[in-house]
Amino acid sequence: MSEQRTKPQEGFAEVEFNSEPFLTDFKKIYADMHNSGCPFAHSSSGDHYAVGSHSKIMEILKQYDVWKAKYGPGLNYLESPGVLVSVDPPEHTFEVRIVSSSFSREVFDAMAPDMEAFVNEQIDKVYEQGEADLHDLISIQLPLFVIFRLLGFDRYDEDGTDRFDWVREGIIASVGLMLVPPEEAAAMIDSGNIEKVRMQALSRTSELFSKQLAEAKAKLDSGEWQGEENLVTRFLTTPGPDGSFLSDDKILGFMGFLLTAGSATTTIMISNIIYRLLTEEGAWDKVFNNRELIPLAIEETLRLDAPVHGLFRTNDEEVELGGVKVEKDTKVMLLWAAGNLDPEIFDDPMKFDLDRDLAKVRRHLAFGYGTHFCRGAPLARLEGDVVLRIIFERLKNLRLNGEVEMEKRMPVLQGIRKLPVAWDV
Ligand code: HEM
Repeated sequence: MSEQRTKPQEGFAEVEFNSEPFLTDFKKIYADMHNSGCPFAHSSSGDHYAVGSHSKIMEILKQYDVWKAKYGPGLNYLESPGVLVSVDPPEHTFEVRIVSSSFSREVFDAMAPDMEAFVNEQIDKVYEQGEADLHDLISIQLPLFVIFRLLGFDRYDEDGTDRFDWVREGIIASVGLMLVPPEEAAAMIDSGNIEKVRMQALSRTSELFSKQLAEAKAKLDSGEWQGEENLVTRFLTTPGPDGSFLSDDKILGFMGFLLTAGSATTTIMISNIIYRLLTEEGAWDKVFNNRELIPLAIEETLRLDAPVHGLFRTNDEEVELGGVKVEKDTKVMLLWAAGNLDPEIFDDPMKFDLDRDLAKVRRHLAFGYGTHFCRGAPLARLEGDVVLRIIFERLKNLRLNGEVEMEKRMPVLQGIRKLPVAWDV
């Protein structure tokens, strides 16, 4: 094992983010960090530090010249160039210019009717049964439907198999590896510890990307497509500020990144919102009776249950963090989920409170902050809004109906993986 860059520090919480008790008790760990007056943590197995204070996270994100994204948002040090979230300006500025036209409010809003139709169809399938696992039925399915639509993928494979099933397995494998120390990740893959089916799904997914890219190029060349068909054709036909285009590797990287960033996160968010509304006293009725509160319900859930615990930056020069000298090129995790529970910013932070001011709640860090602020945030919010409106309309007397399971296969994400509910037919 290579020499450690970091070591346990007095006052810093010692946390193993990839194992218990973190996986079960992370909110207590975050609260203890805040209460200790030293909202920093260290992980020996991950060889990294972590920052939980809202103001310190913001401060780091404003120091673009020091804290870099270039080694990637995960624990491993990316060797080949990544996309967006793994690059810094000016490369980042170039990529943003290319994606911004595809990530506009208009593009997202135009998808709303199809999203509504999809959610309604999902409910139609099980409506008469009066019960379902909403996580499986809607929270997993809708974000995949949306991202497939954006990327122009067909849902079914040539042999008729449902791509949603294996694509999701691949996503779980890749997100699951984000918090695993690099040597361990390689060993897990070699020894088959990451279940074979997930690794196969991952390679099947990259074949799908290559095929999609080849098809888009061929159809653009033949004149059958003009460039507006999907994100891949837009990437191929939109030049950056200097007139050059994204390389094939970058476009493939975008497909992988968007599939993961856009679906696993939103899946978790949707189930978290429904769960909060069903379990917090009076919350369901309050929003049911006043739909204008839907945006607040979405933001308050994102604040309290940020789907992504945190992501990494790497320092380009030696810095000081919480009184500790941090050597150059150290991985430091910015804990969005802990920043969202910072009592300096949010009163009574552990409370799900639908009386908060929406503008203040939106100071949460669930979508990051600054240069890399989530480009899909309006889309995720729209998906949440579509789901809630349809559920309020159609599923009368919605209630929990069995054991709710939490997601622990992907430690970088927090939330639900099974949400059994029932309604009156
Ligand atoms: C609730 C759902 C979502 C959450 C919690 C979430 C969270 C995040 C976070 C925390 C970042 C910042 C990363 C960093 O600073 O290192 C980010 C970036 C990003 N997200 Fe999301 N995301 C969500 C949904 C989506 C969706 C639906 C899409 C697109 C389909 C998307 C696309 C992106 C992109 C492209 C970036 C990179 C922005 C950049 O580097 O310029 N996200 N997201």
